Formats: sequence, structure tokens, C-alpha cells
Amino acid sequence: MMKPLKNNRFIQALARKPVDATPIWLMRQAGRYLPEYRELRASAGDFLALCKNPKLACEVTMQPIRRFELDAAILFSDILTIPDAMGLGLHFVKDEGPRFHKKIDSKIAVDELSVPDMRESLSYVYEAIECIQVELAGEVPLIGFSGSPWTLATYMVEGQASKDFRHIKRFLYQEPEAMHQLLDKLAISVTEYLYQQILSGVHAVQIFDTWGGILSTPIYQEFSLNYMSKIIRGLHEKLGQSCVPIIIFTKNGHQWLELMLESSADCVGVDWSISMENVKKRVAGRVAIQGNLDPAILYADNTTIEKAVVELLDQFGEAPGHIFNLGHGMLRDVDPEKVDFLVKTVHKHSQS
Ligand code: CP3
Repeated sequence: MMKPLKNNRFIQALARKPVDATPIWLMRQAGRYLPEYRELRASAGDFLALCKNPKLACEVTMQPIRRFELDAAILFSDILTIPDAMGLGLHFVKDEGPRFHKKIDSKIAVDELSVPDMRESLSYVYEAIECIQVELAGEVPLIGFSGSPWTLATYMVEGQASKDFRHIKRFLYQEPEAMHQLLDKLAISVTEYLYQQILSGVHAVQIFDTWGGILSTPIYQEFSLNYMSKIIRGLHEKLGQSCVPIIIFTKNGHQWLELMLESSADCVGVDWSISMENVKKRVAGRVAIQGNLDPAILYADNTTIEKAVVELLDQFGEAPGHIFNLGHGMLRDVDPEKVDFLVKTVHKHSQS
């Protein structure tokens, strides 16, 4: 049984119920912009060592919660833990990002790819969740997450981050069946992974579809959204009433807002390339909305930040169902003082 939460704004807003102030959390709220994170990472060796040690992952999750008046914590981990568990050999190259020793670049490689037992192979994640729940002691809710099958596949096929995504696009257009087979394996894994996170106690989950926005509309529907919908259906089937709220976030995907509503997600995340006014009008209260401040605004002075916050809150208006967030992850060299100012400003200007 879950303990009642002391600060329930985030969960209330996800259910589109009234709140005393707009809840705020920030994608990548834990990470390099915090000196205490850099210190812990240096002592652990590297980023993956932090992710794979439940105590350290717990500590990193708590760092922004101790500093700022955030309304939710997010599990410290990475979306690439799934392909890592599948045996692709994840490692990070300094200043360049993730790399895999093994790429999924043929139908044979897809055939050979095994779906590991998510409970066993990612047990360090669930242990971290349990540790975080103890540390949080019901102060704020905890968000679990996964990558979308499409976004995970981009890294698995490209073998690293990409600018033009030509390997995965070639694979998709030359071998659509094998692509579907890969996405199916990933959807099964993600469903089981999120299910285990929920059983371990997270209060909501977010599916990060960072690279859905590089696709055309029919391809987005068939190869990205379709699999996120499958995961949501799977979680609803497994958990029924005890399923937690599900947020989907396709970076650069606002053109498909109406399609996303058909996925049965409880909340849709949007980036800053669309105005909140436009999102609000199109969603028309059917789901909660998360977003959508440009993360780079945290480089500006406080007056500029405050003006942008007020504008965004005004555009959303009085109705319930807004979760304040950045439109993408926190940039690595932001001044933590600016984050503190942002969080306080959102609460100050949205207090009812
Ligand atoms: O939001 C949080 O605070 C939770 C932690 C979190 C991380 N990654 C930590 C991280 C979450 C939710 C993610 C998700 C993630 N990981 C995504 C989807 C969201 C997005 O940002 O688009 C993606 C695409 C990844 C894959 C990934 N991990 C990349 C491409 C990189 C390198 C790029 C970069 O920013 O350096 C990472 C590394 C990573 N994941 C870091 C952190 C804090 C930086 C690691 C470090 O140098 O310490």
C-alpha cells in the first residue's frame, strides 16, 4: 500500500483536479549542473556506475529535491538501461554521449536479440526506487520512466546519437517487418520494465520519445505512437485501477497532439516549439499537459525568466491539468540559482 503524499499537487494535476499552485518538476533535474552531482559522479567513476548502484542513484535523485521546492522527484537512471540489459554493451564517451559495442543493423541481429527478464536484469533500478521511497518519506511523488521503443531503437540501430538518423531510416524503409519485430521486442520489454517500476512504488511514469519528431506523420503513427499505445494498453491490462498516471512526451511532436490523445495517456508533454495557448485549445481538457519552457531561458536574467513564466501560466489559464516543466532536459551548465528562482516563481504566480 502506498503512503499518502504530503505534496500531492503533481498527482492532482495529472488527474486534472484543482491544485493550490501549479506543480513543477524538470526533466534532467538531477545532473551535471549540480556541483554535488559532479562530485558524486567523480567519486563513483562514471555516469553508469551511478545508475547501477541503487544507493548512489537514490542519492542523485534526492539532490535536486533537497535544494529546490520541486513537486516531484524523478528516478535517476537512463533510458538506455534496456538495450544495455539486452547485451548491447552500453558505454559513454566523454562529451560525445552513449555508444553501443553491438549495433542492431540487420534482420538477423533483430532475430538474435533476446528479451531479457526485466525483473532480474534491471533489479538495480527497482532497488533504487525502494531506496528513494524511504528517503522521500512521502514528501513528493516519484516519477519512473522509460524510453519509447522508437527512441530506444534509434540508439540501438545507429549505435550512438545521430544527426540524420540515416541508418535507422534506411532500416525502416528497407526492412519494415524487421523494424516492427525490433519495436515489438522493445514494447514488450518497456511494458514489463514500467510494470516493475510501478510495483516498486513509482507514482507516475513518463515515456520519453525524444526522436519520434524526426518522422513523417504516417511513420510516426505506425512506428512510434503505435508502440507507446501498446505499452499503455499493456499496463492498463496488467494493473487495471492500480495503474499510475502515464505521461507521453514526443519531442518535436506537437503536430500530432490529437493523435496522441488516442493513446489513452493521462498527460502529454510538449516542447517549446508550440505555444501553450495553442496546446490548451487543441487538447481541450481531455488530458493533462506538461511543459513547455525553453530550457535555454535559464541562461537569461531573473526578470526575463519571470516574464516567460507568467506568460506561460497565463496562456494555460485557470483550468486544472497543467504540470510546469521545461520542453526538454536541463542544460548542463545552468546556474542552480536560476532553477531555484524558476521553481519559486512558478509557485508564486500560480498560487490560488
Ligand atoms: O530527468 C532526470 O533527472 C532523470 C534522469 C535521466 C537521465 N537520462 C540522466 C542522464 C533521464 C530521464 C534520462 C533520459 C534519457 N537518456 C533520454 C530521454 C530524454 C532526453 O534527454 O531526450 C535520452 C535520449 C537518454 C540517452 C542519453 N543519456 C544521452 C543521449 C546522454 C548523453 C547526452 C548528454 O546529455 O550528455 C545520456 C547521459 C545522461 N543521462 C546524463 C544524465 C544526467 C549525463 C551523464 C553525465 O555526463 O553525467
